[in-house]
Amino acid sequence: MCYLFLQALARAAKGQKSRHFMSGYCYCGGLPQPFAVARAPGLNRRIHGLMQAPHPPLKQYYGTESARPEWVRGIFTRTAADYERIESAMAFGSGSWYRRRALRACGLGPGMRTVDVGVGTGLVARAAAAIIGDPALVTGVDPSPGMLANAHVPVGVSLIMGSAEALPLPDACADFLSMGYALRHIGDLTAAYAEFFRVLRPGGLLCVLEITMPKGPIARAMLKGYMRGVVPWLSRVLARHSDMPELMRYYWDTIEACVPPETVMQGISNAGFVDVARHVELGIFSAYSARRPA
Ligand SMILES: C[S@@+](CC[C@H](N)C(=O)[O-])C[C@H]1O[C@@H](n2cnc3c(N)ncnc32)[C@H](O)[C@@H]1O
Repeated sequence: MCYLFLQALARAAKGQKSRHFMSGYCYCGGLPQPFAVARAPGLNRRIHGLMQAPHPPLKQYYGTESARPEWVRGIFTRTAADYERIESAMAFGSGSWYRRRALRACGLGPGMRTVDVGVGTGLVARAAAAIIGDPALVTGVDPSPGMLANAHVPVGVSLIMGSAEALPLPDACADFLSMGYALRHIGDLTAAYAEFFRVLRPGGLLCVLEITMPKGPIARAMLKGYMRGVVPWLSRVLARHSDMPELMRYYWDTIEACVPPETVMQGISNAGFVDVARHVELGIFSAYSARRPA
């Protein structure tokens, strides 16, 4: 059912050109400041040094931006034991096959030292370990103790508590850095991209997977109906923890409010990465790839 739905969604996803070259929310003195830079020839304003959240505070879940990290850590911890069951039922992220394919497409190969940020229960880390051929070369990082406690990873994979904005890892220690479906939950994209750049060795590769809003209005309405109707119902039936329907509602709200792909790509480029690209599947699965210059 999920696959048929996604196919229909893909058919409905039509290309509408973005009116903005870059837009999003900067945080200055703790207050969200929306910004939008109009498309203009030669214009490439940089936003170095400004904190940039993926979306404005979602006040129905946490009151202020400063309350966000604890709320996010808490809900992922409380629902961790159910995460993989719900993830596979709703097909977002599309399981291991899509993650494996996307990692390969971003350049992951045998023997590469890999850091997986927002490792969760290990779906990306497992796929990476299978490609690399040696689990000891994989390190997973996540701020949620519950997710780390429920991680199912091959023996040898290291799991460390930490967040994307301050990775507890040395400079230039990785050949490849992945982050699967965590971008919408981190507090400061500018800091996260800078950390990815620092931790990758010169020439190292970046791969960020995320769900993005389809462009056509029909596809958007279908996705919203699915996320607001089917998924909360599924999670009520399948999950053991009563917070899972709330996590699914929050998922949709973060997808809807998230900065557009152009802003993600610009932010990655501003951090110093080159060859920044986005590959989209079914209109909603985005794989961003980039390289730290040699
Ligand atoms: C939707 S899960 C994705 C897990 C896994 N990567 C996957 O593909 O299934 C999002 C993960 O991001 C983590 N997360 C939340 N805030 C984060 C942050 N600031 N830095 C890194 N990870 C974060 C959550 O704890 C959660 O484990």
